[in-house]
Amino acid sequence: MKIGDLETKNNLFLAPMAGYTDVALRHLAKKFGAGLTTTEMVSAKGLIYDSEKTKWLLHTSCLEDIKSVQLFGNEPQVFVEAIKNPVLEKFDIIDINMGCPAPKIIKNGEGSFLMTNPDLAYEIVKASCVATKRPITVKMRLGYETNNAVEFAKTLEKAGASAICVHGRLKTQGYSGFADYEEIAKVKRAVNIPVIANGDVVDENSYKKILQVTNADAVAIGRASIGNPHIFAELLHLDMPYDKFETIKEQYEMLLRIYDEHFVITNMRKQVNQYLKGLNVPQTVKLDLLTKQTYTEVLEILQNIFKE
Ligand SMILES: Cc1cc2nc3c(=O)[nH]c(=O)nc-3n(C[C@H](O)[C@H](O)[C@H](O)COP(=O)(O)O)c2cc1C
Repeated sequence: MKIGDLETKNNLFLAPMAGYTDVALRHLAKKFGAGLTTTEMVSAKGLIYDSEKTKWLLHTSCLEDIKSVQLFGNEPQVFVEAIKNPVLEKFDIIDINMGCPAPKIIKNGEGSFLMTNPDLAYEIVKASCVATKRPITVKMRLGYETNNAVEFAKTLEKAGASAICVHGRLKTQGYSGFADYEEIAKVKRAVNIPVIANGDVVDENSYKKILQVTNADAVAIGRASIGNPHIFAELLHLDMPYDKFETIKEQYEMLLRIYDEHFVITNMRKQVNQYLKGLNVPQTVKLDLLTKQTYTEVLEILQNIFKE
């Protein structure tokens, strides 16, 4: 798929997920074939204030041939300043979050709240496009409380967005129910920029269905990649062996080269839990694993689990 002048290797992407799509998960997604990865959402304001915590989220992997960063905020000028920050120089694409339903984001008028204010969304995209030659993309939902996806997408296109990713739910749906592929299809038919369809792709059937119904240019996978970054190879029919234990180890060790051990151990707990889903691991072992504080201890338990 083409985003501006950039050509992705294929049309199956990793969707951004706060707290999950850190540099290690993105590295693994790329390794297993993902065509494009994007950082989790990063505060545009945080970049302006030079927040160390914000900059932590900007690590990238050497496998990320195209580097995309997602920003959130609600002030055009703040986006402009953030985009010009040298720490974003290495990124090829600037993605703007207009889909997040989290209360702390909504209360600041950011994320999916922007779908209630198409004029402001237009100003943000327009100002961002003026601030950089790099493609500006947007991740949106079908709407906030009511579906305005088609009109909203057209507004983004008019403002200069190079592509949009549509998660087929309203903000008020959170993650409940099912993503509506027919509604994504309407967006695809309404705009001339590439559309990335997103929501509930978990296997071959759902992947085929979203492509068939939406006719989208690409598909983004979120939750199904947590604890299974190999899903990209599976859906792309790449002949890539998968050793779960080695993959988990690679994920930990990549993070440990960047972040402190406490942060990594805490952060990886929810991901490890997903890797263990479907395996016959006694609850006591899982609990033990989730309370360990050092990588050496965690590794020992994982070795025992995967040895059996
Ligand atoms: C824990 C979590 C964090 C997320 N964080 C982000 C984010 O930072 N930026 C974003 O655009 N979407 C975010 N999303 C939404 C996903 O990108 C995606 O749109 C959603 O999960 C639906 O796709 P899926 O069914 O493949 O998971 C997040 C979703 C989850 C579950």
